Amino acid sequence: MEKETASVKIAKTELSKVKDNALVIGFFKNKLSLSLEIKKLDNKLNNTINSYIKNNDFKGEKGEIRNIFVNKNIKNIVLVGLGEEEKYNFDILSNTIADATKRLRDSKIESFSIFLDSFMNKFSEEDSIEKIILSSLIGLYQFTEYKTKDKDKIIHIKQITIITNSNKNFDNEIRYASVVADAVNKTRDLVNTPPNIATPEYVASYAKELAKKSKLKCTIFGEKQIEKMKMGCFIGVAQGSINKPRLVVLEYNGADKKQKLIAIVGKGVTFDSGGLNLKPYPFILNMKDDKGGAVAAIHVIEACAKLKMPINIVVVTPLCENMPSGTSFRPDDILKAYNGMTVEIKNTDAEGRLILADALSYAAEQKPQAIIDIATLTGASLIALGYVATPFLSTDKKLTEKIKEASKKSLEKVWEFPLWPEYEENLKSDVADVKHISEDGDAGVIIGATFLKNFVDNIPWAHIDIGTTVWSKVDKGVLVKGATGVTVRLMMEMLRGWK
Ligand code: BES
Ligand code: MN
Ligand code: ZN
Repeated sequence: MEKETASVKIAKTELSKVKDNALVIGFFKNKLSLSLEIKKLDNKLNNTINSYIKNNDFKGEKGEIRNIFVNKNIKNIVLVGLGEEEKYNFDILSNTIADATKRLRDSKIESFSIFLDSFMNKFSEEDSIEKIILSSLIGLYQFTEYKTKDKDKIIHIKQITIITNSNKNFDNEIRYASVVADAVNKTRDLVNTPPNIATPEYVASYAKELAKKSKLKCTIFGEKQIEKMKMGCFIGVAQGSINKPRLVVLEYNGADKKQKLIAIVGKGVTFDSGGLNLKPYPFILNMKDDKGGAVAAIHVIEACAKLKMPINIVVVTPLCENMPSGTSFRPDDILKAYNGMTVEIKNTDAEGRLILADALSYAAEQKPQAIIDIATLTGASLIALGYVATPFLSTDKKLTEKIKEASKKSLEKVWEFPLWPEYEENLKSDVADVKHISEDGDAGVIIGATFLKNFVDNIPWAHIDIGTTVWSKVDKGVLVKGATGVTVRLMMEMLRGWK
């Protein structure tokens, strides 16, 4: 399914000569005097902008959006408030641009121009352009695949033009932003796809198709092979469902073979009912989002290939469904992991760490320079940081710094949690090598990661728990209700600067 996405271009045009359905201009609070360029434009508009400001009909407050119908070369002028100049940052730029573009779409305006200078402030042209394109394209996302009525009433923005005086072409920025936005939106599409459609087999064929188009190496292991490989934890979780598991391994080689792989492991539970420890209503809702880590990883490697990044990457995604049935694994079962460790099961709803255990060991066997896993691992992530930020933990200082740095650049907020050895006490088992949960339920995010640490074979590793941030309940700024595509922007920033 090819989606309609807005095309983006840069135009070197004098502001007063812009012809479009709308022109978006940003203003700071307490700094509303018109620049020369805007004044020149306003003269042609009978000083409409100036009168709005004079009459206090527009104050430049953060989040304020005022659409004025002027019906000249430009049909609509959209004044966007950026708040106080001293507090201006990329988050504000990104979210106000997204909100303004959504507002234009609501007004059925299908093409518009954005005046770069008015949003740039202290930032570089390159950074501003990249952020503007990325935030517009991800802010405008809509999931309409399963609507059959009034399809023609769904508005798609066709053209976004960035107006600048610069002579540069900004091809790299447009390319990066478009590819990353596409990766975010395709991640949202597949995570939003319902669990009766997006089964493990479906996600695996999707990955195979995408690998073919982007020339990635793709290996898919079915149930028999996963059993033969002795991935006992993965099989244990998968065995309760009639939808059989798949292990998908994708590889991209953008650098010399001698350069070690970067491994990305993504949790791919296509529906998490909790298994025999069945989730009660309403906690069972949205559990199709439990494949969010795997789906993000698949689109990250695709985007890296499209951008021809000079790195080598392997993506490992265990895909299965966690269901209650006569063949389900049970509390009290002892499973034997791929690395030989025995694991005592205490709660079949803590399934993610089990399938990741085997996928992490598999990734570790490839002797990568680093392993990063992305997983909707815990509900406890909500208690930890709410919807604002994603918790992460790492065994390696350099990797930690990379993630923090990428977080600042990508605007995807993360926060580090500790992996102190004291927590290992909680996972001691009377009968097996380890338990997979701590029965007191304390420090859920950390305990999850502490369990996973057993399977990474001392390779520099980071675990990103997207249990909460995978899903948005609000439509605000770059967020749209539903799957968020979280970590795609973060991972892309990290891999872009990888050394
Ligand atoms: N997929 C869930 C985590 C989750 C829960 C994500 C709610 C988003 C919203 C995971 O498999 C799970 O059920 N975790 C349990 C672990 C517990 C049994 C130790 C949890 O967090 O409750
Ligand atoms: Mn679960
Ligand atoms: Zn789960």
